[in-house]
Amino acid sequence: MSNLYIHYPYCKQACHYCNFHFSTMKKGRDQIMGLIEKELEIRVNEVKSPLESIYFGGGSPSLISSKSLGCFIQKIKEDFEISNEVEITMEVNPDDVSKDYLLGLKESGINRLSLGIQSFFEKDLQLMNRAHSADQAHKSLGLVGKYFDNFSLDLIYGMPNSNLLDWKKNINLALEHNPLHISAYALTVEKKTALYHQIKQNRVMPISDEAVKDQYDFLIDKMDSEGYINYEFSSFGKPGYFSVNNQNYWNGKAYLGLGPSAHSYDGIGKRSWNISNNHLYAAGVNSKKLDLESETLNTKDMYNEYIMTGLRKIDGLSLDHIKKVFGKTYASYLEEQVGRHLDQRNIFWDGDYLKVSKQSKFLTDGIAADLFII
Ligand SMILES: C[S@@+](CC[C@H](N)C(=O)[O-])C[C@H]1O[C@@H](n2cnc3c(N)ncnc32)[C@H](O)[C@@H]1O
Ligand code: SF4
Repeated sequence: MSNLYIHYPYCKQACHYCNFHFSTMKKGRDQIMGLIEKELEIRVNEVKSPLESIYFGGGSPSLISSKSLGCFIQKIKEDFEISNEVEITMEVNPDDVSKDYLLGLKESGINRLSLGIQSFFEKDLQLMNRAHSADQAHKSLGLVGKYFDNFSLDLIYGMPNSNLLDWKKNINLALEHNPLHISAYALTVEKKTALYHQIKQNRVMPISDEAVKDQYDFLIDKMDSEGYINYEFSSFGKPGYFSVNNQNYWNGKAYLGLGPSAHSYDGIGKRSWNISNNHLYAAGVNSKKLDLESETLNTKDMYNEYIMTGLRKIDGLSLDHIKKVFGKTYASYLEEQVGRHLDQRNIFWDGDYLKVSKQSKFLTDGIAADLFII
């Protein structure tokens, strides 16, 4: 089983917090899907049928016309075995939503949408430099709900100037649209972003870690009370609606990433990624000499990744799995390291599985880092 990821590397405007690969230039947009199709032809043998999920991310893939998307999905269907149940997700920006576009997406084969709402507050959207307004956030969700059952929405918490009361309102407003899934991300202030410079120059004030934790703690309680399962640190889904793409990624399954900057993984330790430059990517595809970099993870890297993803997931991490895959030395190392966090009740054993306790969930990445082998 494998998965396909397509990275569409263009956006209308640059959000101030975003460090993903995208360009706001108009040049090259008409050619990019043709280039990605060519890349697929070159790399088609790197993925094995049947496909379990297809994911259009970015950038802003909702700038792709539904016709061009339909042709691309048709091409994938010619190359791979795909059942009708295969999850085909597209990230959609609220300002790209219209009835016609949604119908076109349905027609092309997309069966799951992920809407980049981020916030329902105008002040946040302006600070983020989003291309959509609060009104568009609501209207787009209203329309999406009419044409798609299976949709998710993204929210960002821990924004500068944010407070718990507004965050509560944000979650309640999101829930009014009955999404089957919500991803809520803690704001990461990435270097090389406008937001990073605004904070450095004291033009924007970040909030404290405790205030971010309060927002996260409210989120997990509220989502639980509304019947969503927090199956991964940032991901909340109604039963049966967890993202197949994301789960496969966290479970170390193989995926092929197409498009500038897209990462691929062979499922057994080799990771590769395309160049994060649209022009050089095009040159590589056209000359059939792809500008790919790669790394092979060693056992220690794979163990550390297992610890990180394992603790972030609802299942936790399995000691038995560690014994079988990494060996007894790694399992003994883990058993030695967990002491302090067990004493502090940050983590607990549930049979063979090590899990993070609810009150310490916000600390998950730090706990995982303490268990790494350096
Ligand atoms: C790369 S974006 C692509 C989706 C689409 N272009 C959009 O913005 O609506 C995917 C998601 O990543 C999240 N994201 C991007 N940068 C982030 C950051 N610095 N901190 C937290 N979340 C971030 C946002 O929630 C966003 O919806
Ligand atoms: S958050 Fe989405 S729309 Fe904004 S710059 Fe990043 S990829 Fe583009």
